Amino acid sequence: MNLKKEIREIPDFPKEGISFKDITTLLKNKEAFNMVVDSIVDEFKDKSITKVVGLESRGFIFGGAIASKLNAGFVPIRKKGKLPAKVLTETYELEYGEDSVEIHEDALGEQDVILIHDDLLATGGTAYAALSLAKKVGVKRTYFSFVCDLEFIDTPKKKEIRSFDPQILIKY
Ligand code: PRP
Ligand code: MG
Repeated sequence: MNLKKEIREIPDFPKEGISFKDITTLLKNKEAFNMVVDSIVDEFKDKSITKVVGLESRGFIFGGAIASKLNAGFVPIRKKGKLPAKVLTETYELEYGEDSVEIHEDALGEQDVILIHDDLLATGGTAYAALSLAKKVGVKRTYFSFVCDLEFIDTPKKKEIRSFDPQILIKY
């Protein structure tokens, strides 16, 4: 199966010049959904992953399924103000303005081996913020997986994420 064909591209969404990668068409196809989960599980099954860290919101969809199959726990990184207990916050720049993501301060520890998962790697800002949060809570060993990578976008943060040799299923 060609996974790329299962992703719908929406021109000029959410603004002009952006070709939005709509994964809902992939998600509703059970073969495609399972192929994504199984490819990621296969890649990381021997890495002793203790927690899958999913990035809100689209990173939650596959993240939970992957965690279950890897026999690992699931930890959400959420946008600011959503997590109820004590959090650590990481703020990062967007094209206009800034955004913040948070993790519960007791969600991970030094003993954890984590897989940070998201649907899309674009500028790498979200993934880099997640990496910073993982380091702040003492995690020593981090892996990454993304369903899609917009390879034509290159930034220093993305270079850093690439140095972790992330698993990428679909390239644009
Ligand atoms: C999108 C996408 C990634 C992120 C990638 O999420 O799902 O999480 O942007 O971009 P970056 O590499 O430039 O950080 P978005 O913030 O749109 O939110 P959503 O997942 O809740 O839809
Ligand atoms: Mg997202």
